[in-house]
Amino acid sequence: MFHPLRVSDVERLTDDSVAVTFAVPPELRETFRHVPGQHLALRRHGVGGEEIRRTYSICSPAAPEGEAPVLRVGIRLVDGGEFSTYALKELAVGDTVEVMEPMGRFLLAPRPGRFAAIVGGSGITPVLSMASTLLAREPQARFCLIRSDRTAASTMFLDEVADLKDRFPDRFQLVTVLSREEQQSGLPSGRLDQERLAGLLPALLPVGEVDGWFLCGPLGLVVGAERALRGLGVDRGRIHQEIFHVDDGSAPAVRAAAVPAHATLTATLDGRSGTWPVQEGESLLETVLRSRSDAPYACKGGVCGTCRAFLVTGEVRMDRNYALESEETDAGYVLACQSHAVTPEVELDFDR
Ligand code: FES
Repeated sequence: MFHPLRVSDVERLTDDSVAVTFAVPPELRETFRHVPGQHLALRRHGVGGEEIRRTYSICSPAAPEGEAPVLRVGIRLVDGGEFSTYALKELAVGDTVEVMEPMGRFLLAPRPGRFAAIVGGSGITPVLSMASTLLAREPQARFCLIRSDRTAASTMFLDEVADLKDRFPDRFQLVTVLSREEQQSGLPSGRLDQERLAGLLPALLPVGEVDGWFLCGPLGLVVGAERALRGLGVDRGRIHQEIFHVDDGSAPAVRAAAVPAHATLTATLDGRSGTWPVQEGESLLETVLRSRSDAPYACKGGVCGTCRAFLVTGEVRMDRNYALESEETDAGYVLACQSHAVTPEVELDFDR
């Protein structure tokens, strides 16, 4: 459900990114309490009245119990991106934006242990919330951040990350790799790919002792990092990932299965069920949205996981899935925005 929130701060981070802070009224404090790693779906209506939704990760630390949450998101300009252009060029303190409660399952709740993240570009955003919350709340926890960017000037949250280094010199390790600029650390410039990570990681930290790896950024970086970790013997269960910016052309779509001519979908949402015919070519989310405008979604691209539903009966084909972990798909969860009916009858439950 969307709530209108007032913008209380807009801070320019780089030439092409801003951090936007929302004021949370006291009655919505619990609604907007987040777990580090979660994101917010923002909504606005374009000039033609069409609805634009985008998800942005929360960068602020999670507020301890009893304290008011600070809700700050990082937004980087995407070429031709309607929402990010609006955020960078127009959004100002005092404006109101419709904001959905925090969502997502790319999470690190504070606990003792050793954690590491490999991020590229704006992938730092949720990881900043994870690292700052963890280090402040868990004296026994350690965090290693490996970040990759084009140049120092294009790097988001430079000050915030430097501040973590100052505050937690013994428990926070930072490695920055710039792809288009020489740097002083002694590390050569260039892209952070699978081969480079496979050599770099064992020199940085005891790979096998890391309790959780968090990979976030563009598809190529996340896939390369996962392969490097698997090659170093890291268990799949310790690797968590969130992908930003999936280009339509680059996404490996699952091969089309035959879709039955007259499929029907039954869906339960907020305790109410309905049954509708599925129109040719549409996703099951679109089927639901025709009758239930409250169906949850944000990206419609298989990335954010907002449209997750439990498949009660029938079979579906998912075009792509960058949001659900294999345990979730094994347990029967699907992304409604990517699902097409394979059997004549399909039932989804959005409440589970
Ligand atoms: S709406 Fe984002 S994954 Fe379906």
